[in-house]
Amino acid sequence: MPNITEHENLRPFNTFGIEVFCDYFTELNAISEFSELTKNEIYLNNNRLIIGGGSNILFTKDFNGLVIKNNLKGKEILAEDDQEVVVKIGAGESWHGFVMWCIDKGFCGVENLSLIPGCVGASPMQNIGAYGIEIKEVFEELDAYDMKEGNKRVFKKEECHFGYRESVFKREYKDQFLIASVSFRLKKKAQLNVSYGAISDELKAAGIKDPGIKDVSEAVIRIRKSKLPDPAETGNAGSFFKNPEVPAEKFTALKKDFSQLVAYALPNGNYKLAAGWLIEQCGLKGHEHNGAAVHTRQALVLVNKNNCTGKDVYELSGYVLQKVFDKFGVTLEREVNII
Ligand code: FAD
Ligand code: EPU
Repeated sequence: MPNITEHENLRPFNTFGIEVFCDYFTELNAISEFSELTKNEIYLNNNRLIIGGGSNILFTKDFNGLVIKNNLKGKEILAEDDQEVVVKIGAGESWHGFVMWCIDKGFCGVENLSLIPGCVGASPMQNIGAYGIEIKEVFEELDAYDMKEGNKRVFKKEECHFGYRESVFKREYKDQFLIASVSFRLKKKAQLNVSYGAISDELKAAGIKDPGIKDVSEAVIRIRKSKLPDPAETGNAGSFFKNPEVPAEKFTALKKDFSQLVAYALPNGNYKLAAGWLIEQCGLKGHEHNGAAVHTRQALVLVNKNNCTGKDVYELSGYVLQKVFDKFGVTLEREVNII
């Protein structure tokens, strides 16, 4: 029988550090426990929410239902040759722990994604990305279980419809599958991507001319530590908004009025705007609302500065949205999952 507790405080289970309660709470340590759970009355009669590290969730109220903390572990090599290796990783493994394991073994492909908080199982949810890489580039397939019947389904890359911070699991299959493990195809010979300006600058500053995967990982870790707040010290969920995509005409019009606009051309002819820049230009860095605040070093990040509620963070995000729209006519979209 799964151990289900009642009225659990979710503060330790979300990196915003928001105090909310759920009616029921359980932890999944083996996939066999999931088939038992799907027959349980509490599971059958309640809303359900799966969580990993809680680093991309904002709880705005108590959760009426059952929270399932995914702890499924395991690292397995499925196939390898001289060039490549396919590894299968349990959804409850720490993402950064997995990256460090790859670096230790000399497996290349995820080093740019060092220090992203959370668990492996959530990585396909929004196709996590940083410093020029998204997981879709190394993703092979995943094992999921249907939340209704508990049946297993394998998702290949094409079926996941990965996009910028997007996948089927955030859209048409939202809350329908438990992701149990994810398989990645990695290179054995380093093929580094140091095109992201900040990485090449960091490597240059460290005097590294011929970097390996460990050097890239360490550079990324240094950059991230210099601007992103550590959730162990200040509650946050990383970027609160996505970087918005606008048509070329809108970009040209904005560039005329704001010559310093930070934007990147996309292959489809549109432009991606740096939302952090837009927010900073509205004078919102450090802006506070009831203990929720815009981070002072990275305006795209909202923080729990002083024991705020999820509602406070949400209201602050609404204020930021409005200010950016008023100044630039651009609508930001929240990236964090609002519960
Ligand atoms: P959770 O927050 O627990 O869950 C996120 C969503 O996935 C929820 O909807 C949840 O229901 C669902 N979910 C979780 N596990 C499963 C599962 N096993 N099966 C089905 N559904 C599941 N993200 C980036 O992409 N790039 C970054 O650079 C980045 N930097 C960050 C920096 C900081 C300081 C912080 C706090 C966050 C950052 N993030 C970043 C966001 C976050 O770390 C990632 O989105 C991460 O993948 C979330 O993992 P998690 O286990 O914490 O997911
Ligand atoms: N910028 C500002 N002011 C700010 C923040 C940013 O002017 O307050 C400008 C910077 O000058 C820089 C540009 O915006 O030129 C981009 O900034 P940065 O490199 O910090 O990246 P970002 O676009 O703000 C994105 C991701 C991050 C990811 C980094 C690195 C999104 C929503 N965010 O942030 O992901 O780590 O790039 O690749 O795409 C996350 O998803 O939680 C996350 C942290």
